[in-house]
Amino acid sequence: MPLKQSRSGKLISFEGSEGSGKSTQIARLAARLQKIPRDVVTVREPGGTEIGEQIRNIIVHNSRGEEMCAETELLLFAAARAQLVREVIAPALLRGATVLSDRYLDSSTVYQGVARNLSMDPVNQINHFAVGNVMPDITVVIDVPTEVSLTRIRQRASDLPDRMERENIDFYTKVREGYLVLAKGLPERFVVIDGTQTEDVIDKKIWAAVKERIG
Ligand code: TYD
Repeated sequence: MPLKQSRSGKLISFEGSEGSGKSTQIARLAARLQKIPRDVVTVREPGGTEIGEQIRNIIVHNSRGEEMCAETELLLFAAARAQLVREVIAPALLRGATVLSDRYLDSSTVYQGVARNLSMDPVNQINHFAVGNVMPDITVVIDVPTEVSLTRIRQRASDLPDRMERENIDFYTKVREGYLVLAKGLPERFVVIDGTQTEDVIDKKIWAAVKERIG
């Protein structure tokens, strides 16, 4: 179902492979916006709603996860996103909030389409069906070399790598390249930031890009 168009808020999505530093930068941007002050809503994908968090568990932590086919994975991510858009993102945009999303539809394009090699036409159709017409105003890709990303995943001391994190270097190389190709094709929506710079520099560059593009 298409969603109401008259939104006054802005949607900023953050993309990049694991260990790119998205969550740190989302927190920093949220703090900057709240100082203005702006109504800021932060969400993460998959998840962000009760139904979405249950779907997240099936995708990421299911002990039988290795049996999951790529088509199922795509549909589950899309299902979680459809719920998140209608329950949280669209209402927040309608009331004028700035929504910061840790991953959005481009994750499916890159992880399921490019890295898992599903055909792009159905991936795009399913993506657009899930989000209705709620597209990001800006998409920030934090780009890090694959080796850096894999090292950061392994350094996350807390727990064992989840199902997605067990993928190999080829998979993550495809993810990285997938984002760069996507960003090159849609320069009006995407901003690519070099994620090997210091947190402060990345934060300043994201802030400059947000101000320039959405004021
Ligand atoms: P998460 O622990 O949130 O990873 P990160 O902190 O890197 O965002 O797990 C989400 C995983 O799901 C991550 O490996 C990326 C993957 N993913 C997809 O493959 N497709 C999607 O559409 C989305 C939203 C995530």
